[in-house]
Amino acid sequence: MSRIIAVTSGKGGTGKTTLAVNLAVQLAELGHRTCIFDADLGTANINIMLGINPKADIGDVVNGKMTIHDIMIHDPSGIDIIPGSSGVESIANLGAKRLDSLVAAFADAGSYDFYLFDTGAGISRRVIAFCLAAAELLLVITDEPTSLTDAYSLLKVLNHHKYEGRIKVVVNRCADLESARKVYRRFRAAVDLYLGVELEPLGLVFQDEAVSLSMQRQSPFIKLFPDSKAAGCVRSLAQRLTGDRAKETAPADIAAFWSNCVSYFNMPLELPGQDADPEEDNTRTADARQEEMLREVKRLADNFAGLTDELTSALKSLEKAGRRVESEESVQHEDEAGQQAGERPIYFLDLEAFVAETEKK
Ligand SMILES: Nc1ncnc2c1ncn2[C@@H]1O[C@H](COP(=O)(O)OP(=O)(O)OP(=O)(O)O)[C@@H](O)[C@H]1O
Ligand SMILES: [Mg+2]
Repeated sequence: MSRIIAVTSGKGGTGKTTLAVNLAVQLAELGHRTCIFDADLGTANINIMLGINPKADIGDVVNGKMTIHDIMIHDPSGIDIIPGSSGVESIANLGAKRLDSLVAAFADAGSYDFYLFDTGAGISRRVIAFCLAAAELLLVITDEPTSLTDAYSLLKVLNHHKYEGRIKVVVNRCADLESARKVYRRFRAAVDLYLGVELEPLGLVFQDEAVSLSMQRQSPFIKLFPDSKAAGCVRSLAQRLTGDRAKETAPADIAAFWSNCVSYFNMPLELPGQDADPEEDNTRTADARQEEMLREVKRLADNFAGLTDELTSALKSLEKAGRRVESEESVQHEDEAGQQAGERPIYFLDLEAFVAETEKK
């Protein structure tokens, strides 16, 4: 039996990978056998942070080409790493027989006290599946308004799908204790009011340049700068995670985790900005939709670029004709007025307004 924790956030770049890696190293330091699963399809941050270069991933185990021991990396910092990366997609399509072999592979990997799943950015089907399957969530927020609104959206989806695990909140990149408290209270107030989901404040990590310095040196800050403020915070997080209250957390079974995860991968999920999951959703992933949106935005940007060129040449020919051209100042003024009278911005800067708006839908 293990503690299975998904490190997640809603918004990208809040510090999930930094926290997962350093917390894992500290848990190992305390004598707990700890394994990180890189569940991020994207940037393979764990590799960069630890200066490792995996040649294979979980997909090679799922396809029967390799064993879990072939792909597992035993890092000198005391933790083991299972590269998920692009192989995570192949888990979604596992049949029952292959699922058994994945579960057997994890049993063969040895027993761990902690599995930390570093989920990727955004609220995609993959992230939701890992969160729903994990008994514990470590939700990383910062004081950025979009970090709070996206974390709220994530909890809303999990709540909708009746997530029953424990949700522990870490406020990252805080200037001081008071600002961390404020951020947590603000977030908690909105969650209490509109979702009724239970949260536990696990702690905070200060904004600290030791984090970026250690990133450049591809080594965890908890080892490289043990006296830094950030390292002190991570030690306290590890302590709380393993302390007295931890006894209330029922250890979970990694076999059950994977079979739940695969079924969540394939079940209709309601994600933000969508109506009930249509059937085609099983084949069109959130990533595909995101790519489509990006293409559309690029197309619009190209159109605008063309329009700007046309306007510039029209203004030039007007100037040539000796007509008075509006000063830059008045154009700017008009723009501002237009914005005031115009629609709401795409994201909401105010959490309460955001919540009120989403509840209306
Ligand atoms: N406490 C901190 N102090 C200073 N910088 C930090 C802190 N935590 C994270 N960072 C910086 O923030 C950036 C994002 O961190 P990280 O890659 O861990 O985020 P992430 O949530 O895993 O991102 P993604 O969603 O892209 O996977 C990195 O440059 C990291 O060095
Ligand atoms: Mg990351």
